Amino acid sequence: TAQAATALRESEPMFRYEEYADIDWNNLGFGLTRTDYMYTAKCKENESFQQGQLRDYGNVELSPAAGVLNYGQGLFEGTKAYRGENGRVFLFRPDQNAIRMQMGAERMCMRSPSVQQFVDAVKQTAFANKRWIPPPGKGSLYIRPLLIGTGPILGLSPSPEYTFLVYASPVGNYFKEGTAPLNLYVNDEFHRATRGGAGGVKSITNYAPVLQAISKAKAQGFSDVIYLDSVHKKYVEEASSCNMFLVKGNVISTPATVGTILEGITRKSIIDIARDSGYKVEERLVTVDELMEADEVFTTGTAVSIAAVGSITYNGQRKEYKTGDGLVSKDLYKTLVGIQLGKIEDKHNWVVQL
Ligand code: COI
Repeated sequence: TAQAATALRESEPMFRYEEYADIDWNNLGFGLTRTDYMYTAKCKENESFQQGQLRDYGNVELSPAAGVLNYGQGLFEGTKAYRGENGRVFLFRPDQNAIRMQMGAERMCMRSPSVQQFVDAVKQTAFANKRWIPPPGKGSLYIRPLLIGTGPILGLSPSPEYTFLVYASPVGNYFKEGTAPLNLYVNDEFHRATRGGAGGVKSITNYAPVLQAISKAKAQGFSDVIYLDSVHKKYVEEASSCNMFLVKGNVISTPATVGTILEGITRKSIIDIARDSGYKVEERLVTVDELMEADEVFTTGTAVSIAAVGSITYNGQRKEYKTGDGLVSKDLYKTLVGIQLGKIEDKHNWVVQL
């Protein structure tokens, strides 16, 4: 029976990964820890990606004229490997990162690996670095796939060569607040993306331009910045590193992805989990005023997971939200993490066991 087969697999030592690197697993933040291996594959002009391989983690050599260095032709992804209580390792929807990279590659005029090559590279990188996957409850192995134009090019045109690279680092909580509620600041002066731009894909060019707003907000004690649409300056887009959700009454709302907002994989998983749990979920235009009048606000992202928001400051006004027990975000978080760690039935087939 299937049950007997599962029991047999669980008893086999080869399916239990219990070796750990010698680091302090109790204080992981979102810092870079050097791991053992990374994966690289190259794609020459007008060809498809060659078979990639694992190599020792280390620096990469680039032409000074590489497309990524001069014109920002690059995409990144983020996904995580989790260690379950039973010594098993799980990935969460890596195929969705692969598809998003393909969409981004089209937008940025780059060639991209197949979904199968991408997922295989993520699996190989996680497996090769398995001693860096934190113990259950201590964090996860953050896996960072990159697609970059590495061929030399002087004029503004697509790079003649692309490199697909995957590296990994053990991580804990993204924000220094840990699991405490976040204090967010609405910046209506800087915008993250504009209609027709590349805000909807995970282009590296979406991230450096928000550093100035983040630095200013952090200097004033905020955790991150919320951006508004650049035309009306009243619709909520996203935070620098995560998508936004609000709860009002029995309804959960999140800004619709209209090309300026990243299509987060945690975002869409949470929409499904919330609907499965009986909540009404709306994807639509959300105004900043609604956010300031919400009962509860939370953010989602791969790095962030789900984080409750304790306050939002906008236009000199600070709104405090309820925190602690009974939050919708806590309920959704439990289900998400339960699925990711193989503890709750994975009815959508999101989890891939290593
Ligand atoms: C992620 O959540 O994986 C991201 O890519 C956000 C990044 C700013 C850390």
